[in-house]
Amino acid sequence: VLIDGIRLVDIVPPVDAYIALRAGCGWGNISRDAAVPALERSMDAVTVLDDDGEVVGCVRVVGDPMYLYIQDMIIAPGLRGQGVGRLMMVRLLARLKPAYPEAVIMLMCAKGQERFYEQFGFEARPSDGFGPGMQILPSKGSLGL
Ligand SMILES: CC(C)(COP(=O)(O)OP(=O)(O)OC[C@H]1O[C@@H](n2cnc3c(N)ncnc32)[C@H](O)[C@@H]1OP(=O)(O)O)[C@@H](O)C(=O)NCCC(=O)NCCS
Repeated sequence: VLIDGIRLVDIVPPVDAYIALRAGCGWGNISRDAAVPALERSMDAVTVLDDDGEVVGCVRVVGDPMYLYIQDMIIAPGLRGQGVGRLMMVRLLARLKPAYPEAVIMLMCAKGQERFYEQFGFEARPSDGFGPGMQILPSKGSLGL
């Protein structure tokens, strides 16, 4: 590990820390009713702890052996830009690729973070061969109604 006192552990974060990390990114305050089963169903995860045992980062994976989606990649603001995010992603990908050799590994990139992911081989969509990612946000009506 590059940074003194920082530990990477291969578990999902505790629910309250997870909710706080997401809220700290401006991604809203999800309920524990949503967060607890979401964390439980993660296929894989890395959590970052500082020397006080505080949770200062996380990333998790949802999906199945064909489609793996990396979600909730977060480093606490004070720790960004020090190489911890890269360590997390390298650790996660090194595990996912051999474990799920037939999977496509995907993610929805936050605005402006493309270059962070490109260093690991992620290719932005839309591209020549692929259309854009699409979504319905929870606040918007579904079914187009
Ligand atoms: C994106 C995030 C996880 C990166 O973690 P980090 O620990 O700050 O990143 P690192 O320090 O490991 O960066 C590794 C490399 O990626 C580069 N990098 C990091 N973020 C970048 C960005 N937004 N754009 C371009 N390059 C970036 C760094 O410069 C570094 O390269 P270098 O070593 O050549 O300088 C972190 O900034 C974060 O939590 N952001 C807010 C939440 C978020 O938007 N998450 C992404 C959701 S898709």
